[in-house]
Amino acid sequence: MTKNLISMLDVKDNINEIIKHGIALKNKAKNGGKIELLNRKTLGMIFEKSSTRTRASFEAGMTKLGGHAIFLSNTDIQLGRGETIEDTAIVLSRYVDIIMYRSKSHKDMKELAHNATVPVINGLDNKEHPCQVITDLMTIKENKGSLKGLNFVYIGDGGNNMSHSYLLGCAMVGMNVKIVSPKKYWPDKYFIDEAKKFNVKIQITDNIEDSAKNADVIATDTWISMGDESEKEIRMKDFKGYTIDNKIMSQAKNDAIFLHCLPAYYGYEVTKEVAHGPNSVIFDEAENRMWAQMAIILNLLKIN
Ligand code: CP
Ligand code: NVA
Repeated sequence: MTKNLISMLDVKDNINEIIKHGIALKNKAKNGGKIELLNRKTLGMIFEKSSTRTRASFEAGMTKLGGHAIFLSNTDIQLGRGETIEDTAIVLSRYVDIIMYRSKSHKDMKELAHNATVPVINGLDNKEHPCQVITDLMTIKENKGSLKGLNFVYIGDGGNNMSHSYLLGCAMVGMNVKIVSPKKYWPDKYFIDEAKKFNVKIQITDNIEDSAKNADVIATDTWISMGDESEKEIRMKDFKGYTIDNKIMSQAKNDAIFLHCLPAYYGYEVTKEVAHGPNSVIFDEAENRMWAQMAIILNLLKIN
């Protein structure tokens, strides 16, 4: 693994190892085993956007590992008043062992990582959400046993951070990926091209008819990501007809699972019936953020 986790591509050589470690940590902790591997280590968490899961799961995960996390909101720290990302990265690196950054901009994410002397984890930016997709792969593995050859279908905003990270993450573990989205919201070409390098079937379509046929995994995400609020009205129109409901779920394999990184907006990208239905694993997925991220932190700090 590179020093940082900025893109899914940073874990292409050890994704399976991280997933396995996340599952092992979860099982060990649940069976009463000791996992306090990060005595006196500190994680600094910079947030420029809202969060429930990312904040709570990183903080609780650090506590479980015997370390500590500091919550740094850009409305409180000097970064929000114009201190440079460069100086913020250099200073924080003097205090903490690892940094998690939820950023409005991928460019700022790269700049922070470039200037930090400790590992940096992307806790979501406008291009990718790697922690969530590593978690989702762990959740799929728990449910399906193995990942290779599974059919993954994402229906919704194809151009957002989740879609991009799914393209890379699912492809690198050997899953076939289908993104179903209005043309205007198709993924950046870069992510499609990178995903194709893993020699799996990559399909991008705007055709919602039969879109979930043969799917092992169906996923979606909000139609209005953080930062897209000004486009709400137009997006609501553009995504009409792309709601995942029982009819779409019935096209998938009987044992297909439904994923959503949350927060969900019921009646829009998915109905509550599906999200809280028998095929949904969304709350296990939310829990797994904590276990997967522990494995990510341990990997970046080179601690087993
Ligand atoms: N899935 C996810 O990242 O949730 P939060 O925005 O609540 O952190
Ligand atoms: N695509 C969503 C993910 C939220 C966890 C967003 O960026 O707001």
